[in-house]
Amino acid sequence: MAPTQTSTLPLDTASSTALAESGLEYALVDPDGDAFAPFLRSVSRGFLGEEPTAEEVESARKSLRDRRLTGVFDRAGAVPEAPVATVDSWASELTVSPGRTLPLWSISAVTVAPTHRRRGIARAMLTGELRTAAAAGYALAGLTVTEATIYGRWGFSPAAWAADVVVDTSRARWTGPVAPGRLDFVAPESLPERLAAVHERIRVRRPGAVPGWEGRWRGVAGLTPESKDAKKIRAVAYRDLDGVERGILVYTLDEREDYTAHDLHVRALFADGDEALAALWRFALEHDLVARVKADLQPPAPPVQWMISDRRAVTATLTDHHWLRVLDVPRALASRDYSGALDMVFGIDDPLGFAHGAWAVRIDDAGIAVVEPTDAEPDVRMPVGALASLLLGGVRATELAAAGLVVGEPARLGEIDGAFAPAATPLLDIWY
Ligand SMILES: CC(C)(COP(=O)(O)OP(=O)(O)OC[C@H]1O[C@@H](n2cnc3c(N)ncnc32)[C@H](O)[C@@H]1OP(=O)(O)O)[C@@H](O)C(=O)NCCC(=O)NCCS
Repeated sequence: MAPTQTSTLPLDTASSTALAESGLEYALVDPDGDAFAPFLRSVSRGFLGEEPTAEEVESARKSLRDRRLTGVFDRAGAVPEAPVATVDSWASELTVSPGRTLPLWSISAVTVAPTHRRRGIARAMLTGELRTAAAAGYALAGLTVTEATIYGRWGFSPAAWAADVVVDTSRARWTGPVAPGRLDFVAPESLPERLAAVHERIRVRRPGAVPGWEGRWRGVAGLTPESKDAKKIRAVAYRDLDGVERGILVYTLDEREDYTAHDLHVRALFADGDEALAALWRFALEHDLVARVKADLQPPAPPVQWMISDRRAVTATLTDHHWLRVLDVPRALASRDYSGALDMVFGIDDPLGFAHGAWAVRIDDAGIAVVEPTDAEPDVRMPVGALASLLLGGVRATELAAAGLVVGEPARLGEIDGAFAPAATPLLDIWY
């Protein structure tokens, strides 16, 4: 059983040693201690942000209290208490099939100071995270990325995609369902609780999703001290005919040159069911004085295109969003439900070792998988990143084969496509 309290796990000795050889110290940072403020300043600097105020430090401290914060310190520097590199990880869980989740070692806040870049510090931190996660019993690690070129070398690969959507409201006459419930404006102060309640229900049904946390919802609601849009944030909630709150839309209106053509910027649109989805999208698209609705982290083929008169009013820009790293092949593959039977040997190439080898993957007619190491010759071969991309069914083996990433007979690849077809398109609807 993977522990949910990760901040007390020991530091990885291989990374400690490698960093010490460069005169650097690898150390855990106590969110409640004095080292937290310099840690946060280093994170902010790494992401080109402003210096956090004392109020922002206290707010972040509250939000990150359960995290495993690790810093790399150069004690010979002018500000020895400020880490030259940072990483934040925590115990989360990934929805792998509707109703089924697997513990996930989530990683964020990976920064290396510009003064110390390109000397292997990120490598030491990332491989240290993976070894610590694997030793603690995690079958998967995950992250969301600012750049797509960094993490593949450590076996991470996209497993869920998301679309940044822009809708031209002048072409988007509503033709979708008319929801029978009601919409009401709700106060920003009530949003963290409301967002958590709706999101918690939907994320366990959607492969690729993870839970949010109090600080994330406070940020969406504009209730954190660093929020620049706090005064502009509005929100409506949808209640069904039984009075149950089924959806939340949090948004801002941004004026453009023409007052009649504002942008409605969606900060969150969480819908527990089709009624709520239709009600919230219709509200956004029919909002007076709005010319464009912009919503990030939407499903790759956004459902709103089916609810309006001209689907080309919708522009969807696809991004790889949720990157996963397989640390334990049998447990990762056995964690989800499958759409068909399979009996095949996967040969996985993993330079870091965790997933390396040949694995007998047997999935029965009920879609239950049993995976074991084997000496048999692999039927298909792939690098560990490709396995992460296939895991949730967000991409097909035949598609990766076209890029040379999975190698095997076409008929066998087709069998994988059939078995791995997901019950719902994978989606991660938040950043972490
Ligand atoms: C990205 C970042 C963490 C890399 O740190 P680093 O200590 O310089 O990286 P390392 O020296 O350990 O390099 C490891 C490998 O990644 C490569 N790499 C590092 N930064 C890269 C980048 N921005 N783009 C592509 N490759 C990069 C290195 O060339 C090296 O490649 P190799 O393994 O083939 O030799 C650092 O530049 C940074 O903090 N950037 C700003 C914040 C950021 O983007 N964080 C990532 C958030 S998701």
